Amino acid sequence: SNPERDRLLQAYEWTAKFYHFLLKNTEHGKAAMEYLRSRGFSDKMIDLFQIGYAPDRWDTLVQFLTKRSFDLGEMEKGGLLSVRSDGEDYLDRFRDRVMFPIYDRNGRVIAFAGRVLGDAQPKYLNSPESKLFNKSRILYNLHQAKPAIRKLRQIVLFEGYGDVISAWEAGVQNGVATMGTSLTESHTGLMKTMADEVVICYDGDRAGQAAAMKVIPLLEGIGLRVKVSVLNEGLDPDEFIHKYGQERFVRQIIDGAVSTTKFKLIYLKKNHILLEEEGKIAYTKEVLPIIAMLQSSTEREVYLRELSAELQLSFESLKQDCNEIRQSMQKNM
Ligand code: UTP
Ligand code: MN
Ligand code: MN
Ligand code: MN
Ligand code: MN
Repeated sequence: SNPERDRLLQAYEWTAKFYHFLLKNTEHGKAAMEYLRSRGFSDKMIDLFQIGYAPDRWDTLVQFLTKRSFDLGEMEKGGLLSVRSDGEDYLDRFRDRVMFPIYDRNGRVIAFAGRVLGDAQPKYLNSPESKLFNKSRILYNLHQAKPAIRKLRQIVLFEGYGDVISAWEAGVQNGVATMGTSLTESHTGLMKTMADEVVICYDGDRAGQAAAMKVIPLLEGIGLRVKVSVLNEGLDPDEFIHKYGQERFVRQIIDGAVSTTKFKLIYLKKNHILLEEEGKIAYTKEVLPIIAMLQSSTEREVYLRELSAELQLSFESLKQDCNEIRQSMQKNM
């Protein structure tokens, strides 16, 4: 046993309960509650994810922890408090933020992500890395998603906390998210122990779609099957759910997730004007190598036929180019 670690876990557990109480039952939490309501967070989800509020004061948590005889220096090292700039005193680290507790896979609170109520920066403030918390290993919501993941052998990977929560309410209970960091080997390794398939459900903006492109080889590289959700209008999953409803989200975005090849074709298409000859040719040059890489000739034919119809080019010429690329790839291997 490790007494310092146990004390820190106790402090995180009580702090999460405290912030949740302040949000739901006090005047301090009113504006935050209205903010969450305006974003469509239900009471049920606020409870299930134990969302809270850290008041706009310097010593709310300092007092709470002091009363319970915690060592403030230890709490600062553990990421719950900060030190005042003159080094003389401890202060609350999170102020005037909606608090999302971060749990380890056994359901213990080990960190927080705190969101501003408006558009100030940084939008999310995370707990610093600590004895308990290592960002590059944590998947948000894994503790609750585990049973569904094991049952379905599938994980839905989101970018944000709000996406995970809204998807959960829509019935997608195998969803997790990274903590705003890129996907690490320790994340993918962990995913591989629980699932055979991952649905990448990243934001529909450029950054999100580019991130999806990056993540595909990391997951496929360790033998996971991968599908990708296609979100339009720059919407993220949470926004999509509130705009188009839960049922359409599950049908179109989760069940309708496409193959990684299809996703790459859609993604690369956005850089080209296909009505112009140069655009058509440039796009073809980018996508033929992707199709040429596919092992199955049936699969290659499927995408070549789609491409042929879309670009109004003959299947034969596309196939010929594709085969040439394939041959030169094999020579170079
Ligand atoms: P987004 O900017 O897409 O935020 O970043 P979001 O999840 O949609 O947040 P809302 O809906 O505006 O509340 C995706 C994720 O990147 C991390 C967070 O994990 C966030 O959920 N992030 C983003 C940070 O850690 N810090 C930031 O300042 C912004
Ligand atoms: Mn509750
Ligand atoms: Mn985003
Ligand atoms: Mn987002
Ligand atoms: Mn969002």
